[in-house]
Formats: sequence, structure tokens, C-alpha cells
Amino acid sequence: MTTQTVHSEALAVYQAMPKKALTEFMVEHFHEKHRTQLPDLINLARKIEDVHNDHSECPAGLAEHLQAMYQELESHMMKEEQILFPMLAGGIYPQGPIAVMEEEHDQHEQMIAQLLELTNQCNAPRGACGSWIMLYEGINEFVSDLHQHIAIENSVLFKKAEEAGKGHHGNGHCCGGCQ
Ligand SMILES: [Fe+2]
Ligand SMILES: [Fe+2]
Repeated sequence: MTTQTVHSEALAVYQAMPKKALTEFMVEHFHEKHRTQLPDLINLARKIEDVHNDHSECPAGLAEHLQAMYQELESHMMKEEQILFPMLAGGIYPQGPIAVMEEEHDQHEQMIAQLLELTNQCNAPRGACGSWIMLYEGINEFVSDLHQHIAIENSVLFKKAEEAGKGHHGNGHCCGGCQ
């Protein structure tokens, strides 16, 4: 799923939400969920890598990659929660921080691509044990959540901020879109 494939009707629901409520929703529904998902996935990946290290399709390096994603995401989400989201909720639309967050989203998409490559697109091998199947199902859900998370921020939360910024010309909050 990419930004383009999140259904426009679904995005319209988020578009209609007040900005402060949308930032709170993003934290509760996506940030906190990633913080729950990733430690479990890392532990399970370690177990699979240990137990099945002689299997030809063993996802060597998966736990390390998930750990790197967790660190990147945690740093990113903290910046959103502590700096950007309070500004958006307060009617301030900083173009610099938004551009930085969008660049980091691109990096997250690249890390998702590597994650899918490591896991054969989340397809466990024939005869895989229940834990291996559960790991890939969990990763599949995490990837879907993260795609949706990024799409809503890029297409609704940050875009909404730019549109809202147009209403504040001459008030120190120009979006830059008119230049
Ligand atoms: Fe976020
Ligand atoms: Fe983000």
C-alpha cells in the first residue's frame, strides 16, 4: 500500500477531523501501536533466526533490521509528538519540520522494502512452524499500519496544515505556496 492506494474516502474521514484530534488519533492509533508491535516482532525474529539458522530461507539479520526500524521510528515519532504535532494542533504550520518528517517517511518506506526483501514479501516457507508464520503475519500487519500511518500524515495531516496556512497570509504563517 502506498500513499496513492489509501482510499480517498478513507482519507476524507481524517480530513474532516479537527487538527488537534487528528494528531491525538495518530499517536494513539499508530505511534503507540508500533511501540507495542515492534518489541514483540524483534523477540520473535530473534527466536526464529536462532532456531532455524540452518534453514535455507532463514531471514538472517531480520531482528537487527527490525531493531533499526524501531530506533528510527521512535526518534521520528518523538519529534512529531514533542515538536511538530503540538505546533499543528496550535495552528502553526512549520514548513522546515514538515519537510524533515516527509524525508524521514521516505526513509521508512525504504526500510519497509528491505524488510519485505528479507522476509520473501512476508511469505513463510512451506512447512514453516507456527511461530515463523505468526512472525510474518505480524510483520505484514506492521507494514500495512506503517504505510497507512505515513499516508495519512503526508496526504492529510501535513497537507491540511499547508492548506490551513494559506488562510494565515500576512499573519506570519504563510505556507509559501503562493510564491
Ligand atoms: Fe507519525
Ligand atoms: Fe511520521
